[in-house]
Amino acid sequence: MSLTIEQIMCTSPVIPVLVIDDASHARPLAEALVSGGLRVLEVTLRTPAALKAIAEMKQVEGAIVGAGTVSSTHDYDAAMKAGSEFIVSPGLTRTLGKVVTSHGTPFLPGIATAGDIMRGLELGLTHFKFFPAMAAGGIPALKALAAPFYQCRFCPTGGIGADTAADWLALDPVLCVGGSWITPKGPPDYAAVEEAARKASALA
Ligand code: 3PG
Repeated sequence: MSLTIEQIMCTSPVIPVLVIDDASHARPLAEALVSGGLRVLEVTLRTPAALKAIAEMKQVEGAIVGAGTVSSTHDYDAAMKAGSEFIVSPGLTRTLGKVVTSHGTPFLPGIATAGDIMRGLELGLTHFKFFPAMAAGGIPALKALAAPFYQCRFCPTGGIGADTAADWLALDPVLCVGGSWITPKGPPDYAAVEEAARKASALA
């Protein structure tokens, strides 16, 4: 049975935002993240290896693998074909929103303004990625946005790190945060990734 976006957001306090250049890294990376306690993995569609990486990561027991940076219906189709279990987008268009919601796919679209949230509510969505979290005003901005939209829940992403994640997670409307800090650029150091994942999962 497929999970709801709320269940996915509540699985771990941090969703690692992954940019994978080499699909052969995907499976060991997912194993390190899941061993460290982070089961929800967002693979961004920013590299040619991303779709293969999604399929590889899905083989890892316990992993819940989704596609990020989904910005068109073409991206959505490709992500679903690769086996994505949820979809994250940097923003929200009616075209993409209608297609994703019509299939009932767990969806976490990016919002940064009240108008964005209202567009989401019109599509029946209540769970959003607040992006780019720091550049869009940080915690004061999210608090101000969340007040009128009390029914909404958020995953702030963009500029959040190990040192600030806990401050965001302390906010009631925040179910989890996203970030790339768990997997720094360069050849993966799986032991370091597992350790960073362990620290991040302890933020719950
Ligand atoms: C994203 O795609 O969600 C962001 O690029 C992640 O932001 P970060 O690299 O600042 O964590």
